[in-house]
Amino acid sequence: MNIPITLNRLTKTFQAGGTENQVLKDITLKLISSESTAIVGTSGSGKSTLLSIIGTLDRPTNGSFFLGERDVLKMKAGELSEVRFNDIGFIFQQFHLVTSLTVLENVLSPLLMRKVEFNKKERAISLLERVGLKDHFHKLPSQLSGGQQQRVAIARALINHPAWILADEPTGNLDTGTGDTILSLLLELKEETGCGLIIVTHDLELAKKMDRQIEIQDGEILSEERRTTV
Ligand SMILES: Nc1ncnc2c1ncn2[C@@H]1O[C@H](COP(=O)(O)OP(=O)(O)O)[C@@H](O)[C@H]1O
Ligand SMILES: [Mg+2]
Repeated sequence: MNIPITLNRLTKTFQAGGTENQVLKDITLKLISSESTAIVGTSGSGKSTLLSIIGTLDRPTNGSFFLGERDVLKMKAGELSEVRFNDIGFIFQQFHLVTSLTVLENVLSPLLMRKVEFNKKERAISLLERVGLKDHFHKLPSQLSGGQQQRVAIARALINHPAWILADEPTGNLDTGTGDTILSLLLELKEETGCGLIIVTHDLELAKKMDRQIEIQDGEILSEERRTTV
């Protein structure tokens, strides 16, 4: 499962009340799934906007974006929703679980009304066991800690065997110890499933644990580093 992400000269401009705000200026990047990638930068630098574009939740103003050989910006709405369903799993800072659904139902929720070639419930259960929630299947999110809720979100993101996991500040709502555990879990699952992992964060310590760090400032790539193996 290796579907590279190729961005060429991406820009994004938001219009607000007659003024233009150029949030991404000239982003050229190739991301490969074997390398865990951190996108770092201060608040407002454009990290979430970039991740939303990669996740096909938003469109750039200019530039090109290929997923493997596929030209994402030429796709129609239906194809884009298939890409989101088949290729991408999202994880957010605020977990974004459905509060009225149980843990198990949350994990299964992306598959509602979808035909898949695996047993939905078996897969959800094995993912929940893998993320350490064996005894919590029938609880509501409100009965779980923040770290446990993020584990549910991770299982949900993986339910359809995505090629990429995109995580926007996944530890931002967690204490340091819990955040470290969640990050380790994401890195382990990346290895086990072979999916790519992109984490947006303003936490440089967290970013250092990823193979590659890309720093964004005012919508531009300021610097890039690769983790030196010791
Ligand atoms: N939907 C939007 N409409 C207008 N401006 C936006 C929108 N989304 C983000 N912005 C602006 O884009 C800039 C970058 O935002 P964002 O990508 O969320 O930064 P980061 O995630 O690095 O904190 C900010 O100035 C923000 O106000
Ligand atoms: Mg953000």
